[in-house]
Amino acid sequence: MADHLMSTYNRLPVQFQRGEGIWLWDNENRQYLDALSGIAVCGLGHAHPVVTRAISEQAGQLVHTSNLYGIALQEQLADRLCTLSDMDRVFFSNSGAEANEAAIKITRLYGHSKGIDNPAIIVMENSFHGRTLATLTATGNRKVQAGFEPLVQGFIRVPYNDLEAIRKVAANSQDVAAILLEPVQGEGGINIPDAGYLDGIRSICDDNNWLMMLDEIQTGMGRTGKWFAWQHSNALPDVATLAKALGNGVPVGACLASGKAADMMQPGSHGTTFGGNPLACRAAIAVLESLEQQQCVANAAKLGTQMLAGFSSALAGLDAVTDIRGLGLMIGIELDRPCGELVSKAVEQGLLINVTADRVIRLLPPLILTAKQADIIVEHVSNLVREFTGQ
Ligand SMILES: Cc1ncc(COP(=O)(O)O)c(C=O)c1O
Repeated sequence: MADHLMSTYNRLPVQFQRGEGIWLWDNENRQYLDALSGIAVCGLGHAHPVVTRAISEQAGQLVHTSNLYGIALQEQLADRLCTLSDMDRVFFSNSGAEANEAAIKITRLYGHSKGIDNPAIIVMENSFHGRTLATLTATGNRKVQAGFEPLVQGFIRVPYNDLEAIRKVAANSQDVAAILLEPVQGEGGINIPDAGYLDGIRSICDDNNWLMMLDEIQTGMGRTGKWFAWQHSNALPDVATLAKALGNGVPVGACLASGKAADMMQPGSHGTTFGGNPLACRAAIAVLESLEQQQCVANAAKLGTQMLAGFSSALAGLDAVTDIRGLGLMIGIELDRPCGELVSKAVEQGLLINVTADRVIRLLPPLILTAKQADIIVEHVSNLVREFTGQ
């Protein structure tokens, strides 16, 4: 059956038929606990009744008109996002990579407006920003880039969590117009920068008149225990990108901009056929309302702390576990060895997890998780680690 699909994925041998909350069922009616949420997408879990109703109603009323006409739901969603984020304007896309493309294009316009002929963006080692040509160039992972050369010009790479490296670039290059980074690196291995890093980036950007651009595609929408991960700091970015959990599975992304970045795009500079259509926006509005009503952001903060404490005690004394880290419900357990095979072992036992950066178990459970379910994940994952490492 899969013969006609391009083989872009080594898929696990399981297909899901239905879901409810944190649970999924496969086509043999086996039940799985989803501790990955479709890679940080289904923050509200599966088949959330409010989102399902909103999508169904909207599908029966109006799905798409194009951006040639006003879309009230898009305006409403932009208002809500700007209120939550303190940003000024939004461009809606269909995916994370496209939201980042919009951010990159804003930098080019901004750089040219400052008289820079070849504006450059400082990006980070171990970052992930998507699979389009510009976003894979921004991505700090050779595996993602290999074979797709020539890459896009205009990116300067520095180590993550290293303000000095950025200051050095500032001293040596006149072409930089922006910095783009994830406030917590997701694909790169749940890398959490030091306190003060984002504030430091903000002040370097202010000193040099650069845009501070945050990729909140994985960290946004409450995942880290704040609506946006930058809210753990005092910094407000000039540009921020969202996708993943914004539609709880309905494809929608957003590029938010404020201040000097907000008016870079003018009619004709950018566009999309589907982006921000009535169906996607209605779904995202229902997502925001439900995240608010169910106090999911506070829940992510609370249960994240609980799970980190749980793992610290359940895995105490295991030499093979080199680090346990997390922010809200974005949790990484680093082992001293590659552990990709844990993913299929977990599936066999009815649990969905992920391994990234070779040796980091990544957990991104739904934000509707209960304390009891959090404990179940801690116990199950800890047992898997013990079994796998033999410790
Ligand atoms: C931080 C970050 N940026 C961008 C992307 C790309 O998003 P999409 O797959 O929707 O294009 C991802 C996806 O994993 C991501 O984690």
